[in-house]
Amino acid sequence: MNSSPFSLPTSPSTRVSIIGAGRVGSTTAQRIAEKNIANVVLLDIVEGWPQGIALDLMQARGVEGHDREIIGTNNYDDTAGSDIVVVAAGLPRKPGMSREDLIKINASIVTEAAKEAIARSPAAILIVVTNPLDIMTYLAWESTGLPEGRVIGMAGVLDSARFQTFIAMELGVSIKDIKATVLGSHGDLMIPLPRYSTVNGIPITELMDAVTIERLVQRTCNGGAEVVGLMKTGSAYFAPASSVSIMIESILFNQSRILPCCASLQGAYGLNDIFLGVTCRLGCHGVEEVLELELTDMERVAFMESAEFIQRSIQEAKAILK
Ligand code: NAI
Ligand code: 2OP
Repeated sequence: MNSSPFSLPTSPSTRVSIIGAGRVGSTTAQRIAEKNIANVVLLDIVEGWPQGIALDLMQARGVEGHDREIIGTNNYDDTAGSDIVVVAAGLPRKPGMSREDLIKINASIVTEAAKEAIARSPAAILIVVTNPLDIMTYLAWESTGLPEGRVIGMAGVLDSARFQTFIAMELGVSIKDIKATVLGSHGDLMIPLPRYSTVNGIPITELMDAVTIERLVQRTCNGGAEVVGLMKTGSAYFAPASSVSIMIESILFNQSRILPCCASLQGAYGLNDIFLGVTCRLGCHGVEEVLELELTDMERVAFMESAEFIQRSIQEAKAILK
C-alpha cells in the first residue's frame, strides 16, 4: 500500500475483496474498478452469480477504459492477499423489518465471512456493511481478533451523505459546499448534528429555522427506510456503494480523510468495548484517530442513548450466537 498522502495511484496488484456480490457488493465493485482504485474479487455463496457479475463488469472495461481486473468466485482462496476486505453478505432489510430483526441471520454469515477472508488476508483492513451495522462490525472484530483500528463499519458516510443531500435540496445550493456530521448507531437512534453541518463553513443553524432543520434530521434518520418503502424489495445500494468506495480510497491512498465511521471506542466519550458511529481519520492503517466532538447536553444524552442501545444489542447478539 502506498504511504504517501492523497491520491497517488495504487499498485497494479492492489486488491479489494468483497464478500457478498449482491446489490451493494456488485455496485461497490463497479465503483472501485471504474475509479481505477484496485482490482476486485467478488465472492458470493451462489454459484455462478459472482462470476457472471464479474464478467459483466469486465466487459464494461471496453467502454469505461480502466485496467482493473474483476474476478468472481465462490472460493475464499481467491481472496488471498487482499488489502481490504468488504463484508456485504447477508440479507437486506425488508419493509416492516427492523435492522435488529436481522441479527440472527446475518451474525453467522458475517462472522464466518470475516474469519474465512481474514485467514487468507491477515494484513487486510476489514470494512463491514451488513446490517445491523454497529453490531455486525463488533462481531466481525471479535471473531477475527484483528486490531480495533483495522475493523470499520460503513454507515456514517452514508447517513451524512443523505443529510447533505437533503440540506442541498432544501437550500437550493450545490452539494459540493455542504458538509454534514451524523454520529451514533446506524438506525433510528442515529444523531445528525446540525451544529456540525455547514454550507461553505456556515452552520446550517444560521441558515434554516429549527422546524425545517428538524424535518431534514428526521428524513435523514428515515433515509434507508424511505428507500426500502419505495423499492419494496431490497434496500438502497447506490449511495451505500459510493460511501464504501470513498472509505476505500481514503485507506488505499492514505488520504487521512475525516469521515464518520463505525469505529471501536477506547475511552472516547467515556465508552469502551463498543463500535459506534464517530468522526474518524481514515488512512492506510485504517482508523488512525477518533475525534471526540464537544457535544451539548442534549446531543450527549442522544449519543449515550444510542450507545446504550448498541451495547444492549451486542449482548443480545452474543447470547443468540452462543
Ligand atoms: P443483496 O441481497 O442484494 O446481497 C447480499 C448478497 O449476500 C447476496 O448475493 C447473497 O447471495 C450473499 N450472501 C448471503 N449469504 C452469504 C454467505 N454466507 N457468503 C457469501 N455471500 C452470501 O443485499 P444488499 O442490498 O447488497 O445488502 C447487503 C447487506 O448490506 C444487507 O445486510 C443490508 O442491510 C446491508 N446494507 C447496509 C448499509 C449500511 O449503511 N451499512 C447500506 C445498504 C445495505
Ligand atoms: C440503509 O440505510 C439499508 O442500512 C441501509 O439504506
